[in-house]
Amino acid sequence: MVLDKRKIRKDLLKKREALDENTVHCFSSLIMDQLKNTEFFQLANTIGIYLSYHNEVETWSLIKEVIHEKKICVPVVNQDRTMQFFLLDSFENLEKNKYGIDEPKKHHLIDKEQIELMIIPVVGYNDQGSRVGYGGGYYDKYLKHFHGKKIGIAYSFQHTNDFAVQEHDIALDMIITEKKIITFKPG
Ligand SMILES: Nc1ncnc2c1ncn2[C@@H]1O[C@H](COP(=O)(O)OP(=O)(O)OP(=O)(O)O)[C@@H](O)[C@H]1O
Ligand SMILES: [Mg+2]
Repeated sequence: MVLDKRKIRKDLLKKREALDENTVHCFSSLIMDQLKNTEFFQLANTIGIYLSYHNEVETWSLIKEVIHEKKICVPVVNQDRTMQFFLLDSFENLEKNKYGIDEPKKHHLIDKEQIELMIIPVVGYNDQGSRVGYGGGYYDKYLKHFHGKKIGIAYSFQHTNDFAVQEHDIALDMIITEKKIITFKPG
């Protein structure tokens, strides 16, 4: 059954909004423990990762844990619906963007080529590792010419095969949920 991507997005976001704080915390730490154990994570020195908000899979504790060992870069959105990644060197220089998401004040731009691993937020994902995001196309645009590894972090209930993948959608190499790790073969 192919449903409209917007409807899927809306339904999945509603489910996520209904999670309580404890569940978000518990599932997120199960996801992060698995992420830390992957070779992708252990081998990467420069990592792109979002600063979670609302009921997204929580990333702050992992970032705090590794910020002195690895170069952590986080997204900053531009007016034209593109984004760039900036070094997160302190938690003191953050400000909220138009979506209410924390962003570092732009000091140190990190080139796409330098980012070895990208940890990606997910609204929905399917059996092929294709994702539904918030609908801005921010990640699809950024990842189009990205050559590092791409790991999506998601709750297992965000799985659905009910959306049609579009040509511009960039698939992930791996998805980690609170239950398991799913690896996708390229092509
Ligand atoms: N590579 C691209 N170049 C230009 N526009 C793009 C590109 N990729 C996506 N878009 C635009 O973004 C819009 C939203 O795409 P889509 O519905 O796939 O969002 P999404 O995957 O949920 O968002 P996101 O990538 O931010 O998580 C598309 O309709 C398209 O106009
Ligand atoms: Mg997309």
